[in-house]
Amino acid sequence: MAERFSRIVGLGSYVPDRVVTNHDLGEWMDTSDEWIVERTGIHERRWVDEGARIGSSDLGVEAARRALDDAGLDVGDVDMIIFATLSPDHQFPGTGVFLQQKLGLGPRPVLDIRQQCTGFVYGLATADAYIRTGMAERVLLVGAEVHSTGLDRSTRGRDVTVLFGDGAGAAVVAATDDPARRLLSAHLYADGRFAKDLWLDGMCAARRPPLSVEDLEQGRLYPRMNGRKVFKHAVTRMPEVAREALAAHGCGVEDIDLLVCHQANLRINELVQQALGIPPEKVHNNIQRYGNTTAASIPLCLDEARREGKLHPGDLVLLVAFGAGFTWGAVLLRF
Ligand code: COA
Repeated sequence: MAERFSRIVGLGSYVPDRVVTNHDLGEWMDTSDEWIVERTGIHERRWVDEGARIGSSDLGVEAARRALDDAGLDVGDVDMIIFATLSPDHQFPGTGVFLQQKLGLGPRPVLDIRQQCTGFVYGLATADAYIRTGMAERVLLVGAEVHSTGLDRSTRGRDVTVLFGDGAGAAVVAATDDPARRLLSAHLYADGRFAKDLWLDGMCAARRPPLSVEDLEQGRLYPRMNGRKVFKHAVTRMPEVAREALAAHGCGVEDIDLLVCHQANLRINELVQQALGIPPEKVHNNIQRYGNTTAASIPLCLDEARREGKLHPGDLVLLVAFGAGFTWGAVLLRF
């Protein structure tokens, strides 16, 4: 019997229309276009409309429909949903079931992944495992975030707030027996010693009380980050895991057709590219226009790269991510 693999058969993405420039952020906090561009490469990001009740599942459902169209599949062909997000619609249930309901899909397995910026890479690895073991045929994997409603817009939060944008990306992952177009392997890591270097402390079962006036005053409902530590670990771990993925298949950097890194900071990605020695024409970044969209960033980039003619059937594609946890990982695939 032929070996069973998985491959991406459809891609889609969606961002809200509202553009928020660095100058716009300067209206709320003490920051500048020059500071943000120099440190991060970000010029603008998309945020959902002010006051609109739009959650990650709303952006995700648009990206999901586009990915299904791209795959030439009907919604009912999906036999499992994996939803990756750092910004769930609600504390519980998971956001995947809200997406399921919006797609009008009947009972089937729905799994939420909370691996933040590494969420899409963990999601691909999970979809691949379900498919290879015969537990699923076609998995809808969605990464979506509405960060803008959970950010501190005062100067206190400027180190974090300027980085993040809203958006969604989706992939349909399906079973295949074609070894020439398939996910080759996934390499996943986490190190909980750094859990509090990028986290949200407030409103959780581990606090007594879960939410206090002091928490609100101290801004504990907003993410906190040790930016320098995140930067240092990202530029070490990402090249390391990228090399591990290539070595597992006897490939060299010269074999890669497209490198897509999680979009956290253009400066991080430039250092990763330099460390790997990969030329710029084999890399796609779009953080300049979208900021960090966490679990959405890799599919948003992949979808755009393909529309711009940078991603072709059979290409060797390396996806690399790093984020809160710390978590990191790489997926090597033949598109
Ligand atoms: N605008 C203007 N000034 C800012 C600012 C902003 N948005 N954010 C921070 N500053 C200030 C700081 O208050 C500090 O001022 P001080 O010197 O008077 O104390 C100064 O800029 C330098 O801050 P620092 O945090 O040391 O800057 P940095 O060079 O480390 O850059 C980041 C900050 C956030 C851009 C950088 O650390 C980074 O990108 N880290 C990784 C973040 C990341 O990728 N997160 C997501 C992971 S998935």
